[in-house]
Amino acid sequence: MYPMHTKSLEERCQRILQDMEGSLTARDRVGIQDFVLLDTYTSETAFIDNLRKRFNENLIYTYIGTLLVSVNPYKELGIYTKKQMDIYMGVNFFELPPHIFALADNVYRTMISETNNHFILISGESGAGKTEASKKVLQFYAGSCPSTSLLEGVRDRLLLSNPVLEAFGNAKTLKNYNSSRFGKYMDIQFDHQGAAVGGHILSYLLEKSRVVHQNHGERNFHIFYQLIEGGEDELLRWLGLERNCQNYRYLIQGECAKVSSINDKSDWKTVQKALTIIEFSEKDIEHLFAIIASVLHLGNVPFEANAMSYARINSSAEIHWLSKLLGIPSNMLLEGLTHRKIEAYAEEVLSPFTVEHAKYARNALAKAIYGRTFSWLVNKINESLVNKDSTRKTVIGLLDIYGFEVFDVNSFEQFCINYCNEKLQQLFIELTLKSEQEEYEMEGIEWEAVPYFNNKIICDLVEEKHRGIISVLDEECLRPGEATDFTFLEKLEGKMSGHPHFVTHKLADQKTRKTLERGDFRLLHYAGEVTYSVVGFLDKNNDLLYRNIKEVVRQSKNTIIQHCFPAIEPDGKKRPETVATQFKSSLAGLTEILMSKEPWYVRCLKPNHCKQPGKPFTSHLWLAVLSAECFTRASDLSLTHLFSGLFDDVMVRHQVKYLGLMEHLRVRRAGFAYRRRYKVFLKRYKALCPDTWPHWKGTPAEGVQRLIKHLGYKPDEYKMGRTKIFIRHPRTLFATEDAFEVCKHELATRIQAKYKGYRGREEYQRQREAATKIETCWRGLQARKERERRAWAVKVIKKFIKGFMNRNQPVSMDNSEYLAFVRQSYLTRLKENLPKSVFDKSTWLTPPPIMQEASVHLHKLHTRLLVWKYVRGITAQRKTQLQIKALTSDLFKGKKENYPLSVCQPFADTRISEQDISIKVLQMICPEGIKYSVPVIKYDRNGFQPRFRQLIFTQAAAYLVEDAKVKQRVNYSSLKGVSVSNLSDNFLILHVACEDTKQKGDLVLQCNYLFEALTKMCVVTKNNNLVKVVQGSVRFDIQPGKEGFVDFKSSSEFMVYRAKNGHLMVESAGTKSR
Ligand SMILES: Nc1ncnc2c1ncn2[C@@H]1O[C@H](COP(=O)(O)OP(=O)(O)OP(=O)(O)O)[C@@H](O)[C@H]1O
Ligand SMILES: [Mg+2]
Repeated sequence: MYPMHTKSLEERCQRILQDMEGSLTARDRVGIQDFVLLDTYTSETAFIDNLRKRFNENLIYTYIGTLLVSVNPYKELGIYTKKQMDIYMGVNFFELPPHIFALADNVYRTMISETNNHFILISGESGAGKTEASKKVLQFYAGSCPSTSLLEGVRDRLLLSNPVLEAFGNAKTLKNYNSSRFGKYMDIQFDHQGAAVGGHILSYLLEKSRVVHQNHGERNFHIFYQLIEGGEDELLRWLGLERNCQNYRYLIQGECAKVSSINDKSDWKTVQKALTIIEFSEKDIEHLFAIIASVLHLGNVPFEANAMSYARINSSAEIHWLSKLLGIPSNMLLEGLTHRKIEAYAEEVLSPFTVEHAKYARNALAKAIYGRTFSWLVNKINESLVNKDSTRKTVIGLLDIYGFEVFDVNSFEQFCINYCNEKLQQLFIELTLKSEQEEYEMEGIEWEAVPYFNNKIICDLVEEKHRGIISVLDEECLRPGEATDFTFLEKLEGKMSGHPHFVTHKLADQKTRKTLERGDFRLLHYAGEVTYSVVGFLDKNNDLLYRNIKEVVRQSKNTIIQHCFPAIEPDGKKRPETVATQFKSSLAGLTEILMSKEPWYVRCLKPNHCKQPGKPFTSHLWLAVLSAECFTRASDLSLTHLFSGLFDDVMVRHQVKYLGLMEHLRVRRAGFAYRRRYKVFLKRYKALCPDTWPHWKGTPAEGVQRLIKHLGYKPDEYKMGRTKIFIRHPRTLFATEDAFEVCKHELATRIQAKYKGYRGREEYQRQREAATKIETCWRGLQARKERERRAWAVKVIKKFIKGFMNRNQPVSMDNSEYLAFVRQSYLTRLKENLPKSVFDKSTWLTPPPIMQEASVHLHKLHTRLLVWKYVRGITAQRKTQLQIKALTSDLFKGKKENYPLSVCQPFADTRISEQDISIKVLQMICPEGIKYSVPVIKYDRNGFQPRFRQLIFTQAAAYLVEDAKVKQRVNYSSLKGVSVSNLSDNFLILHVACEDTKQKGDLVLQCNYLFEALTKMCVVTKNNNLVKVVQGSVRFDIQPGKEGFVDFKSSSEFMVYRAKNGHLMVESAGTKSR
């Protein structure tokens, strides 16, 4: 199961099934996909046939168990797409056609499930496709591993480290247009979720000699050509370079600066982009290319011999550029390139070089600069790949190292490269053939040993202490005196004489001698014979760089150079280790790294020497075949020959042999694909059997026995060793793994459910606790608030009481608040209870003592306001009425008992309408203008007989009218006054002035509208003093000289009668009794 995959499992399975149906066509099943299934598995011919068959169908991959054999197709096959990656992701190894992605995926999944480290050893000779294979693996991880936006940067840097390293470390050789000239071991680090989080690269022995010399048909490192071809004009100008490789001596020795299949221009762009993504600063890039250009300029430095045959530099153009680019003064450069410092008797003396010597020193400098810059580059890339997170990582190592190579002339470099391949072969043998068979023996598994060639003897020949070639070489290098390449060869001959894998001209038999030069030695490598020319061995092994030139370079202003040539070299003055010894140690280190990890193998094969793709049956080729048949009567042989150009049987057979593939197949076939310690096996799969799950009480071996019985393993599918179980076929293990996968899901679901429950409970507890806590806090808060509120209330109440107690004291601290409250509360209450009308006298709230005065003022103000409002609201008519009423009030208020009853009765203009007055009377008095008329009862002056009369006031006089007759006219001028009692009767006595007896005397009248009538009379007469309120009795004139009396008294009932004393008695019921 891939961790963190975004797609759902079903969705992916569905897609894989569809894709598998599509891809598992007949074509994919050509030959046998896994050599383990080959019937004639011991036959090399059958093996090659199968490879060829598949190769011709562009099926370049075939398995031997879990080992992948890959044949270089020399063309793009379109099988490395994202879609292909998806197909291979998370699918069991043998379920799909063999592919490098399947291997990469299997390694990855094993790493994830077993949390251990792995490495993929990619081997094969130069040009077999190792680098390509390693790139595909990297591409697969970049495309298929779970990633985050954060990790995309790491992924890009991992991917882009390749073009940069290839530009600086690969070159065109005769074997390969993109041959790796350095060894590369790359660790890809994965976190526990399977995401690629970092990486680390180890580089091994760069072939520096290529910087200064290339064999015919070969080129220098790509970067030089890329810079010249692709570099922008401005950059080249700045570097002092011209866009013509022919101008640079270091680039043209192989006479093939331009190669049609290499696009230096576009490669330059890729490198440029990669450098920025790997986070090289602009300054780094500038200094890096300044160094590359310096190397080219160095190569062109011309030396001449002076009169004394010492080297001299005439032209200063190159020196000028070198000085500019490296930031070293020219004179220092000139001296450093033409002299060396010698220590003589504790003194340092400058000794001039000969031309040859100067060239040698210059080349040494170029190699050193380039070599050290390359190391700096690797370190810089490593810095950008470093993962700072210290959590545990698992790694997958990718080893892509220069392949075994044989040229016409092989030198020290080939010796190192081939030695390295010997070591890797040794490792392969150790880990597969040897240890595997030893393990069977140890475990007591029945086993028929498979013989194989163990190349340890060759490794020993090269590296053995004191006796190996490297030791002899070092000895010669360190030996004082005249040691040369030839003395070294002599030494070798002395020591190695008789060794079955070593031969020289001197040691060889007659026949072999013919194939060897005097300065050659031949090693019989596991991969074939290689003849090395000793010329240059000592020099290259010494890798000498004169001290004074080192000191000159240290002056450089170029930061990379400063870094590469530190003031204090790690080795100090002590003679540095030779190149071969260093290489030997680094290979030992590599072996150690690899031995600590689980191995996986990709064995790359080259189908032909001419870098030609397969698939011969094109129409062109058929034509070629037919014409060969027709015109040259070509035999079957020539046909085979024609094809062998593409799939060279002999060549492939040779590789199959030396790579030990047949032996590997035999061991695989006879052996067991999988083994595990009982304990480990049981621990992993115990969930598959109820007896062993969750705990097995017995020994692990018994547990495994019980487990596999439950799983139904057949007897020939496995063997029980002493400490391990051995499973013969991968399919058995896959079936178990599949079952485990299913079971794991079930278990995971169960664990998940439990865990969810646990988490749920935990969450519930947490929430409950939180709720309780919040509740407690809330309650506390509330209680505190309540307490504060109460304390406040107590304070307020206390203050209130104190204020109340001191309310009558002068304003002080004690009562000011209380009084303010009282004031405010009174005013508020008052506001709500104000009298609504001007007549409402009772509503005014009784004020508290302190508001007495204010209340009076307010009352007045309010009354005034009401009055004002009232006044504004009354009509002119009403106003007049009120004025009359006011007059009435002046006349009677407080004087006459029944006055208050009259207040609410409105006055009328008149009480008798004109129709009710006789026309005669009207005619008589109308000219005077009737002002008011009212019905009255007139009491005769004598006898007090009551008579109904009309009393009419005109402008001039008052008339007493009986129907059509005016009974009495009283001029206002003769009206002396009017008397009324203070009681509740309606009697009025008009006092009239009489001059003679003929004239009628005073009038005793009773009028229901007494107040109205009298008021009107006062108005008409304009005399408010007419009316007199009297008590007891009123005297009146019956006629001049004759008086009468009207007596008034209160009674329970209204009565009018003539009293015995001759007075008119008016008894009135008080207002109360009414
Ligand atoms: N899988 C492949 N598909 C297409 N072309 C391939 C493949 N593998 C290799 N080639 C071709 O073969 C050439 C050589 O391959 P590669 O550089 O990987 O060889 P190598 O084994 O690394 O050689 P060396 O040891 O010299 O570095 C590649 O440049 C490419 O053209
Ligand atoms: Mg390579």
